This record gives sequence, structure tokens and C-alpha cells, in this order.
Amino acid sequence: MTERTRRAGISVAAIIPAAGSGQRLGGGSPKAFQPLAGTTLLRRSVNAVAPYVDVIVVAVPTAWCEVASEILVGTACPVIVVVGGATRQESVVAALAILPPEVDVVLVHDAARPLVPPTVVTAVLAELQAGASAVVPALPVADTLKYVDAAGQVVGTLDRTALAAIQTPQGFRRDILERAHRAAPAVATDDAALVEVLGIPVLTVPGDPAGFKITTPYDVVLAEALLGRDA
Ligand code: C5P
Repeated sequence: MTERTRRAGISVAAIIPAAGSGQRLGGGSPKAFQPLAGTTLLRRSVNAVAPYVDVIVVAVPTAWCEVASEILVGTACPVIVVVGGATRQESVVAALAILPPEVDVVLVHDAARPLVPPTVVTAVLAELQAGASAVVPALPVADTLKYVDAAGQVVGTLDRTALAAIQTPQGFRRDILERAHRAAPAVATDDAALVEVLGIPVLTVPGDPAGFKITTPYDVVLAEALLGRDA
């Protein structure tokens, strides 16, 4: 138990989906296993949540379990490595299946978001500890978003003021996250979407631009520049 969770009397786990191939990023290994200024995305993302949780479950591609265990030696809390699935959702389900029984609250954090600052992690946890069932970090949308058809023709514009870009870690009461994944009607790109389908309110806390998802080589350049600035 960390000091934080012991005080609140709840047991917190983190699930790190890290089983994506990272095709848009390229490189010879899955995205989570690629280095960012010398340290893998996986290690950085695990380190970002480790001080605030009691156990971490990492979902990785089949052939990468041993490498993941080696990369994560010395993590500040116990780590369990499982084989992920064909989609992010399947990877989260695989991790949920082996959560220790005492876990009350779960943070799901993408391995692809290695620079999330502590303030975002603690803000999500604080709302869960205050009684929220589901909490996500949100940022205002800077660009104007439009519907575009297959021919490249604009067919509509969304109201930007009513939109938010959603990051991770997303935090949930364990029973609600399990129920949401059991009921999942379709493939979703985040866990909160499945909770929304159940009609359960999802609260937002302020996200942080540093919590962006590493997707393309441009994102790696940006992340390494940010790490260099902080060094
Ligand atoms: O592909 P994308 O970057 O949106 O994936 C978000 C996160 O989900 C990444 O950390 C990725 O490793 C993970 N993922 C997974 N299993 C998959 C696909 C993605 O754990 N099959």
C-alpha cells in the first residue's frame, strides 16, 4: 500500500495496456518497447503511476512478456505481466481478469502516454476517493473539428465548445469497470465509453498537454524535446 491509499483505506491497481503494435510509429519493436531518450515508453508510463498504486498489471504482446518483466525490474510496486489481446479493449479485459481480489479502484493508463504528470494522476485518484465512479482527464479542443466524407468533402462542423480531448489515466470503481467490459456492446477506444453506455456518470478533471499519446514519429521528437527541457 502507498501512503496515499492506506490513508484512504482503499486498494488501487493500475492497468497498463501496452500490447499495441504501433504501426503508425514504425520501428522494429512494439510501440511500448521503443525508447524515449533512452528509456522505454513502457517503463516511463509504469513509473508515472507506480507511486500512487498498490499493484500494476501490464498487458503486452505475446512474445514480449519476458522483456517486459526485465524492463520493469525495480518498479516501486508489484507488477504482473499478462498477454494482451487484438484490441486495446481485449488487453484491458485480460488485465482485469487477473486483478488481485482486494482491489477497489482501477486506473487504466496507456503505455503510449509516458509523460503524464503526477498532478493528473492524483486529480483522478482524489475524485475516486471522494466517491466518483468514473473519472477521466479532459483537455479543451484547440482545432475546429469537421465531419468529412470519403470523397474529402466537408459535410458538417462540430461545436468545439462542447467537446473535450480525453486522456488517461482513466479511473474507475473496479466493479463498474468490470461490469462495463462484460456488457461492452462494441469496440471502444477508451474504457469510459463503455461506462457511459451503462448510464453511469463519468466525471472529468483537468488533463495536461504533456499527457499526449505517442502515435507518430513527430510525437517522439516532441516528447524527447520536452524531456530535454526538463533535464
Ligand atoms: O493504438 P493506440 O496508441 O491508440 O493504443 C493505446 C494503448 O493501447 C497503447 O498503450 C497500446 O499499447 C495499447 N493497446 C493494447 N492492445 C492492443 C492495442 C493497443 O494494449 N491490441
